[in-house]
Amino acid sequence: MCGIVGYIGDRDAYDVLIKGLRRLEYRGYDSAGLSLMPRAGELNCYKTRGKVAELERYAQDKDKSGTLGIAHTRWATHGEPNDINAHPHYSQSGDLSMIHNGIIENYVTLRTKLEQVGYTFKSTTDSEVVVNLIEYIRNTMGLDLCSSVQHALNQVVGAYAIAVIDRNDPNLLIGARKSSPLVVGVGENEFFLASDATPIVEYTNKVVYLDDEQIVLLRRGEEMKIVDLSNVVVTPEIHELTLDLSVLEKGGYPHFMLKEIYEQSRTIQDCIRGRVNSEGTEVILSGVSQNRDKFMAAGRIIFVACGTSWHAALIGKQMIEEFCRIPAYVEYASEFRYRNPVINEDDIVIAISQSGETADTLAAVELAKQKKAFVYGICNVVGSSIARATHSGSYIHVGPEVGVASTKAFTGQVTTLAMLTITIAKERGTISDERYVQMIKSLQQLPQQMDVVLKQREKIEELSKIFTYANNFIYLGRGYNYPVALEGALKLKEISYIHAEGYPAAEMKHGPIALIDAEMPVVAIATSDSIYEKTISNIQEIKARSGRVLALVSEGDNQIGNIVDYVIEVPTTDEFLMPILSSIPLQLLAYFIAVNKGRDVDRPRNLAKSVTVE
Ligand code: F6R
Repeated sequence: MCGIVGYIGDRDAYDVLIKGLRRLEYRGYDSAGLSLMPRAGELNCYKTRGKVAELERYAQDKDKSGTLGIAHTRWATHGEPNDINAHPHYSQSGDLSMIHNGIIENYVTLRTKLEQVGYTFKSTTDSEVVVNLIEYIRNTMGLDLCSSVQHALNQVVGAYAIAVIDRNDPNLLIGARKSSPLVVGVGENEFFLASDATPIVEYTNKVVYLDDEQIVLLRRGEEMKIVDLSNVVVTPEIHELTLDLSVLEKGGYPHFMLKEIYEQSRTIQDCIRGRVNSEGTEVILSGVSQNRDKFMAAGRIIFVACGTSWHAALIGKQMIEEFCRIPAYVEYASEFRYRNPVINEDDIVIAISQSGETADTLAAVELAKQKKAFVYGICNVVGSSIARATHSGSYIHVGPEVGVASTKAFTGQVTTLAMLTITIAKERGTISDERYVQMIKSLQQLPQQMDVVLKQREKIEELSKIFTYANNFIYLGRGYNYPVALEGALKLKEISYIHAEGYPAAEMKHGPIALIDAEMPVVAIATSDSIYEKTISNIQEIKARSGRVLALVSEGDNQIGNIVDYVIEVPTTDEFLMPILSSIPLQLLAYFIAVNKGRDVDRPRNLAKSVTVE
């Protein structure tokens, strides 16, 4: 969602800001803008609906000078996406310019109060209220900018990451956050502010992650200063980034999504590396070994997540129940947080999130902590809010995922859940030593097997042409492959805009089978597992009603080919790991169908990569 970039230093701020906005494009947005301060007393603001390229066109013949500036990509929440609602926003006097990511819940009350004292508003956004509130406090209380920001944020209810500049002070950039991420980059005589580290990594690998209710003062020629909303000074903790810039580029692929699909055999290796010993006889997840007592005594495991991460959680639930014999539940974070769930002190809540910034998942984590559960995070982005808010956790280590549709993060999440399951099951003695070693062996074979799946690109591309016409799709699977069906349908929906539903195959006869006719493609995931025969029967039911079936089968299956219309083969692995292989052809199928339809695969309409509002 909204992206923030700020710069103060010796470089041309415009170049840093535009490059930074481009790096943040993956988060999803519908307008973009920036403010630059060429000299004291002057502020130039350019903003427009549409992409960063349009902003660049708009600013082409304008004054782009200045070494201090802020920039923003907006994903509309309050107020339609247009030029006026785009950020930055100005205060009434024109002195202050501000960008904001998040939602101010009490903005109507604050706006009414400001209107009563003579403020008028140009936009319909909640953000413009904040910048005017800061100015009002500064004027009426005679405070400096930092204290005014502090006072204003104490009145605000909601989530924010903001960056503010004052046209009368060309040496100061202020940032603050609560529930929306904000990272400070520390260079030589320069500072950067951004929603995540991707706009910063090109210039410095030293970053400070702001915590909730912290304000950072970045003054030219001085050390950074952090204070909290009660004015307590906080010592900045500098982290070193290990992000490699090349992973933020497409590397010859037409889209990030395709690049990320193809990276999976390597990213799974990265995910496993350091966790399975060199002999392949032991899995060590430090988050589990350091909290062994919690896992041994766990009454229940409750997964909280959204979207694709929620699908990974459904697979995690099956693994945990099958091998660890701990009751496991999967909750949509957005539902869980608002329904006063029963959470016991011996429950373990596992939050799964690629970005580590999803607002609902973060709120679910906070709720679980309040109720005294032990909270474990499975995140990709190092240093993200959820990674820091949880008691312990495991990173999936698949590297930055830029394509909006999640691919390598999903397989990384499932792989991490598999390692978590194996570790807990061994500790609790719910699997035999032989089974333990066998599971690890299967895990280690995955990267190679993924390469085999990825070689089917041409076949899947050809098949995609047959199905591009369709307006609806059904995806079917059972057991471990049911969440894969959900995930396959979600991938297709989000990037091709074709309506698709995932179902447990046996549920079809309870209603959805009425939809089946020759126009309805059905993707059936029917790999050789313990319920293979049952899945075949379900496919027969579809075929009997003239359905057109594309089946995903295990290598060497010579039964299904006689029943269905098209077949894609995947190598055989241990049943609980099958989703890691069977999800890949579905990612490719969705990708090629979307490309055939001319969709903007990496930036599908209305979607944001990091959903930082609820
Ligand atoms: C789908 C997709 C989304 C995310 C969801 C949760 O391809 O990317 O459904 O999975 O928004 O995001 P994270 O995992 O960052 O919490």
